[in-house]
Order: sequence, then structure tokens, then C-alpha cells
Amino acid sequence: MPYPVLVERVHSFPTSCRSAGGSATPAAPICLARLILQRSICLDFNRVSRMTFSLIPLLFKYEDFDCLIAPGVMRWHRETIHAQYKDAINALLAPLPQFSEKSIEEILSHPDLLPASIRDDAMHFGGGYANHQFFWKILGRNDRTDPREILPQGALAAAIDVDFGGFERFQAQFSERALDLKGSGWAFLSLAAPRNPRLEIVVLPNNGSVLPLRKPGILVCDLWEHAYLDTFREDRSRWLDVFWSMLNWRMCETRYECLVAGRPTP
Ligand SMILES: [Fe+2]
Repeated sequence: MPYPVLVERVHSFPTSCRSAGGSATPAAPICLARLILQRSICLDFNRVSRMTFSLIPLLFKYEDFDCLIAPGVMRWHRETIHAQYKDAINALLAPLPQFSEKSIEEILSHPDLLPASIRDDAMHFGGGYANHQFFWKILGRNDRTDPREILPQGALAAAIDVDFGGFERFQAQFSERALDLKGSGWAFLSLAAPRNPRLEIVVLPNNGSVLPLRKPGILVCDLWEHAYLDTFREDRSRWLDVFWSMLNWRMCETRYECLVAGRPTP
């Protein structure tokens, strides 16, 4: 039977998830199995002998954001959608031992090293896997009544002031760029180049990654409808409003300082 893992997990989409202001009717699930079929590639999951990539542990609980987005949506997003990307990239790379010891960041940074026959699919599934890892990392429970927790501080705040003219202007530009994207994608705040303290907003369609662009990411927002459709329907602006309240700015500040200094990021 083809694609047993993906088909099984698509069927696990929650049917009773509700949240404040949201709809009780679940949106149509993004069917990754269908996407794979449409892309005309053949993944044989029986060939997966070693799962190279896994889901990172979360630094928060799904319930931490229950006043913003239903925990069931968060759980489905990570444990079904993200897990499908993990399974897909693992299956795609399983027959290629030359990649067995490489990190997903190394692979995405050098697409030219991927066999041409799987390059597009590896960048798509690998990008989806890595972007989600990044996304979960920069979320965190915070005291939304404390300005120090809902606003960047330190060197990152200073850089935002220099490059965007203040936090509110940065936030407005980021949201505008994210809303302008037609279809699915990701919005990043990145360094303009490795170790360059200058900041840049990068919006990429589908599962585009900033890694091959050499624009290291400080934060990222998932703009795929699966992230918010069940809660906010097609209203991406409401999802962006919620996103700002879910950010762990301490993590973003640490990432910025590490990236500028050329140190590994958490
Ligand atoms: Fe997502």
C-alpha cells in the first residue's frame, strides 16, 4: 500500500478543536500525501532504516497559548504536519548515505550537492522540516502584560531601531510583506548576510529556506494556511497578530547575538 505513514497521519486531523473566535468546523487538512502524489515522486517508506531527523522537544506546552490558538491545532500542526515533513525528508535521503551524517542546515545550505533528480523535493520537504523546527524554537510562553517580554531588548532591539526605524515600523513592514505573499510560505527576520548585523525581512513562497540565500534567520512565521485556517479561517492578519504574542524574544535576541558573532545558535 503506497504512502502508509502519510495517509494514516492525515486522517488524524482533529475534528473537535475549538478556540475563541474560531470555527467548530475543521478546515480541510493539507494533505501531504496528495502533494507528494502531485509532485510525481515515489517514496518507499519500507526503505527507511534509520530516521536521521526528528522533532525537537518543545520549550513550551501547547496549552500555554490556549487563549490565542487551540492547543489541538498546535498539536496537529507539529505532530502531524511537521512530522510528515520529517518522514518525507528522511525517506528521500535514506538511500543516500553521503547525507546520513549531515545536518538539515548543511543540506539546505548546499543544494548543489544534492542529486539533481531529488533536489527540488529535498529542498521542499527539507525546507518544510527545518522551517518548522525553527518556528517552534522561537515561540514561548511569556507574560503578555510585561512590555519587556513582548518586545525585543538589547542588541536586537537596537538593530531593529536602526534598520526599520523602530519596533512598530518593523512589525508593520513584516506583517505587510507576510500579507502580500500569495499562497503559502514563510516570513523571516534575517541577517542580510552571515555575521552582518544588518537586518532584513525575507518572505519566501512554499517551503523556501533562508539557508541557501546565506541570510541566517532570527525569527520566522509560518504562513501556510494549516497554521491558522482552523482558528482564523482565511484571515492571515489575525494569525499575524497572534504570532507577535507568541514570540519568545529572549530566544530571538540570543539567536541574533550568536549569528552576528558567528557562534552556533540555540
Ligand atoms: Fe506549518
